[in-house]
Amino acid sequence: MHGCAARLGENEKVTALSAPEAGVLGALLLRIPGNSDKTVINAVTGASLKGFIINHGLKERGIFPVEILRVEHLTKSYGSGETEVKALNDVSFRVNRGEFVAIVGASGSGKSTLLHLLGGVDRPTSGKVFVGGTDLYAMNESQLAVFRRRQIGLIYQFYNLIPVLNVLENITLPLLLDGRKVNHQQLAEILDTLSLQNRLKHLPNQLSGGQQQRVSIGRALINNPALVLADEPTGNLDSKNSAEILELLKMSNRKYDQTLLIITHDEDIALQADRVMVIEDGRLIKDEVIRK
Ligand SMILES: Nc1ncnc2c1ncn2[C@@H]1O[C@H](COP(=O)(O)OP(=O)(O)OP(=O)(O)O)[C@@H](O)[C@H]1O
Ligand SMILES: [Mg+2]
Repeated sequence: MHGCAARLGENEKVTALSAPEAGVLGALLLRIPGNSDKTVINAVTGASLKGFIINHGLKERGIFPVEILRVEHLTKSYGSGETEVKALNDVSFRVNRGEFVAIVGASGSGKSTLLHLLGGVDRPTSGKVFVGGTDLYAMNESQLAVFRRRQIGLIYQFYNLIPVLNVLENITLPLLLDGRKVNHQQLAEILDTLSLQNRLKHLPNQLSGGQQQRVSIGRALINNPALVLADEPTGNLDSKNSAEILELLKMSNRKYDQTLLIITHDEDIALQADRVMVIEDGRLIKDEVIRK
């Protein structure tokens, strides 16, 4: 059955059928992006998936694309009583695989809080987050840590680099923790785009803010995560560097069919997204598709 997956083209966006449709079609194919060895396939015998999709008119019927992220009634409060802050207030939305979403909103509106909850690094007061169908907060800490490492690349607003590790070690850490080998070609590509080739042995405190930001981007992309969550990834960069980093994220989004959520104050970046979400006082007040 793995033959079906093998026949998927590099640029083939359609890699999964949703479970309800599976009943209709007698076929179910689940492919966890960036984790091909975990492919679970129960598809139509003998048919290539592409042929299968065309024959059944699945694209026309709008069955694709496939949902990668589902957020249900997410709420996060800090403190209690008079000092309680509802940083996030009943936020729900869905994102399909391969989408590029920009999240905008005023300072303090809850954007970073939302991203941390989507990335599984903070726990909600209530509500749920599903990534590729997995209920993030139903997992225990160690299960969540492994899931996060394999499926999610988080670029923090304030970098969160490990101070005692050098640039190379910080970037390759997610792979090393997982006992996986470094793909040297991909590493070289990332280092090149991030202009970090001549800083590999430097520690974070020997780097500029922009360089630290670029290291955190490298660390988030190195394991080809299904979901890339970036909190102001170009906030500390000049316009040339900023444009290059955005190109890298967009290229990675296309090449690995990654889903990209970027928090930004930069209107130019927001305008390049497929969809823009606006957060105000912890609520999702606008969610607009600007490009199909
Ligand atoms: N650990 C915390 N303890 C208490 N309050 C917090 C904590 N983290 C965030 N908040 C509050 O939650 C609200 C949302 O903060 P958040 O960091 O999500 O905003 P943001 O939209 O990312 O802002 P910015 O654009 O300035 O980064 C703010 O009012 C903030 O003061
Ligand atoms: Mg923030």
